[in-house]
Amino acid sequence: MIKNEALESILETIDLRNDAPAEEPLRQYYFMKKAREIVSDKSRRLGRRLTADGETFGCQMNAKDSEKLIGILKNIGFEMIDSEEADLVFYNTCTVRDNANQRVYGRLGLMHSMKKKNPHKKIALCGCMMQEPSVIEKLQKSYPFVDLVFGTHNIYKFAELLVAMYSSDGMIIDIWKDTDKIVEDLPAQRKYSFKSGVNIMYGCNNFCSYCIVPYVRGRERSRDPTDILREIEQLVSDGVVEVMLLGQNVNSYGKTLDTPVSFAELLREVEKIEGLERIRFMTSHPKDLSDELIDVMKNSKKICRHLHLPLQAGSTKILTAMNRRYTKEQYLELAHKIRREIPDISLTTDIIVGFPGETAADVDETIEVVKEVEYDNAFTFIYSKRTGTPAAAMQNPVTDEEIKENFDRLLKAVQETAKKRAGRLTGQIQSALVEEINEHDSALVSGRLSNNTIVHFPGDASLIGKLTDVRLKESHGFYYIGEIETGN
Ligand code: SAH
Ligand code: SF4
Ligand code: F3S
Repeated sequence: MIKNEALESILETIDLRNDAPAEEPLRQYYFMKKAREIVSDKSRRLGRRLTADGETFGCQMNAKDSEKLIGILKNIGFEMIDSEEADLVFYNTCTVRDNANQRVYGRLGLMHSMKKKNPHKKIALCGCMMQEPSVIEKLQKSYPFVDLVFGTHNIYKFAELLVAMYSSDGMIIDIWKDTDKIVEDLPAQRKYSFKSGVNIMYGCNNFCSYCIVPYVRGRERSRDPTDILREIEQLVSDGVVEVMLLGQNVNSYGKTLDTPVSFAELLREVEKIEGLERIRFMTSHPKDLSDELIDVMKNSKKICRHLHLPLQAGSTKILTAMNRRYTKEQYLELAHKIRREIPDISLTTDIIVGFPGETAADVDETIEVVKEVEYDNAFTFIYSKRTGTPAAAMQNPVTDEEIKENFDRLLKAVQETAKKRAGRLTGQIQSALVEEINEHDSALVSGRLSNNTIVHFPGDASLIGKLTDVRLKESHGFYYIGEIETGN
């Protein structure tokens, strides 16, 4: 990430009469300046500012990528609006389950009719779905009105791609199969002023047999710890108090660096950053969660009391077929160890129902784990077959009726344990990071506790972004109602 002032002074020195430099990020700075010219020229002719809108699907990685894309759009002169009527709309897509793909195709139909009304309108598609060759074929065949298509590895090139798009009539497609490159120092527009995601690694090497992510996000690449720390320091100087360290498997962070660093070591360094109040991270793979990490979490004042520890399935037979590389017993042992060492921690998980060959007895085992671990919350997904993954070729698909029955049973167990855990902080005073005015009642603000539970309490906009001591008066399942603790 680069600050606006620093970027502006570099942009001033760039002469567009020269050819674009080859090295990054300088090349992109050149294209930002060039794109500015195009945007301001169009605005002048239209007699208004050009508008842009970004729609983001999928996980935190995509949310973070969208902040980078919006940073570039704002830098080159677009006004960001929250409407798909905008002159430029980008969809940052997800393909982890088929329903994510279907939503994008549905929206494209609507875009087509809007484009007929606004001849200046441009549509850009990027993100994980674009890394699938079958998607590109389909777009070329059935959605030729799309103007720009790019993937997950070259989002840093957005300015350059926009220049190409505005200089051409056809669909511009730029997809890279993989990359070993990490381009630093690009602008980004943060969604929140007081908290931010920070990429610590990209890609995934785990190849869980159901999962498309390693194919669309490429091989695992860790960012240099100094770049991460520098970015967090910069964020803190900009008013950020909470960071979420992002990676598909943060527990394997740093293993492939020239000088290997463990995730726990990185956390120790992040903890030292003055002014930073809270540290979160996503996602932890159980197979790589070290004792060193538990120890660092236990002794940290900043790492939040929340761990998302995807289970996926409770039966060792299914876990093996999923290539998760832990058994039911190993998972349980780990969960118990974490609860024992950090008793106030909140544990959440992801579970898939309907993996090929999964029987009702296998789901019984998943339910057993849910009951034993007592998750604070669990996201339950119906298995979605992803072309190209090993699971797509597996026999014994589970019927829809069986899936429904198993899913309902699992959901019931999840809700029961979540209910049991909910409310356990009632009466306590806890620090909440205030995020926004309550959506339904403007006399209330909504904040998040260290363990990720929401609390609503009377307050005003001046509290947003502040850590505030709140007495948790009543529990309402997934949230508390509280009041500011004045200390009197
Ligand atoms: N890297 C993270 C998960 C990223 S995907 C991890 O390993 O935990 C987020 C969740 O989507 C996964 O945890 C899994 O539960 C779910 N998921 C992934 N592929 C899926 C598929 N093919 N069908 C259904 N759910 C899937
Ligand atoms: Fe997918 Fe497994 Fe990688 Fe998570 S760890 S992104 S589930 S392959
Ligand atoms: Fe989806 Fe890509 Fe994330 S497939 S879940 S947006 S890494």
